[in-house]
Amino acid sequence: MTKACKLAAGNWKMNGLRADLEQARILAQAIAKPNCGVLLCPPATLIAAMADAVAGTAVMVGGQDCHAQISGAHTGDVSAQMLVDSGARYVILGHSERRADHGESSVDVAAKAGAAHGAGLVAIICVGETEAERDSGQTLDVVLGQLAASLPEGATAANTVIAYEPVWAIGTGRTPTLEQIAEVHDALRESLPDAAISLLYGGSVKPGNATEIFAIANVDGALVGGASLKAEDFGAIISALGAA
Ligand code: PGA
Repeated sequence: MTKACKLAAGNWKMNGLRADLEQARILAQAIAKPNCGVLLCPPATLIAAMADAVAGTAVMVGGQDCHAQISGAHTGDVSAQMLVDSGARYVILGHSERRADHGESSVDVAAKAGAAHGAGLVAIICVGETEAERDSGQTLDVVLGQLAASLPEGATAANTVIAYEPVWAIGTGRTPTLEQIAEVHDALRESLPDAAISLLYGGSVKPGNATEIFAIANVDGALVGGASLKAEDFGAIISALGAA
């Protein structure tokens, strides 16, 4: 069996102006030859400028969403091909903030992922339970249900990454226990169409907890929000993943 690739992915969410590209430049210098894939997903307004800023370095650039259609009358939306044209190689899809703020269903996410694959992007598909779902013992049902419905036809390790992000752990400083993360990642691995698809954990990953999370067997990396905004913090997480 081919082993899953390690990936540290930063999700800047709706943060970052052109001045903040300096953090991407500092990161690229600091991690010259990382032992894992390194990705930054800035807001759409910064993708092209960031791709220029980190050209020729190990840092790859991605988007945070794309439309399911190739082009057309969809005011305010961005297509997968536009992301590629701006220098993106990845796109985050089905983040819980988009599922909550924009009512995206897993069916929508699968359509977007199919569009991303068609344009040559790697889709990072996010799944995760709410606190109420965890408290009522539904975590595995919810997460595996989202996975099955969000994966498009033809998903392989070459075009797809899965991120397990418990909704209640995002931006809260709270994380599941290592056993809880392991339980979900083991179940996800069993359910993947291609066992070499990388499985990221996301939700309050910081330099201080990265090493113990990356030591979990089926964790291949992280999707990092707040701690990816500062080169120093994200660099420390990348080092921890490289050493795992
Ligand atoms: P966080 O966000 O690291 O700030 O918790 C993770 C994410 O939402 O991808």
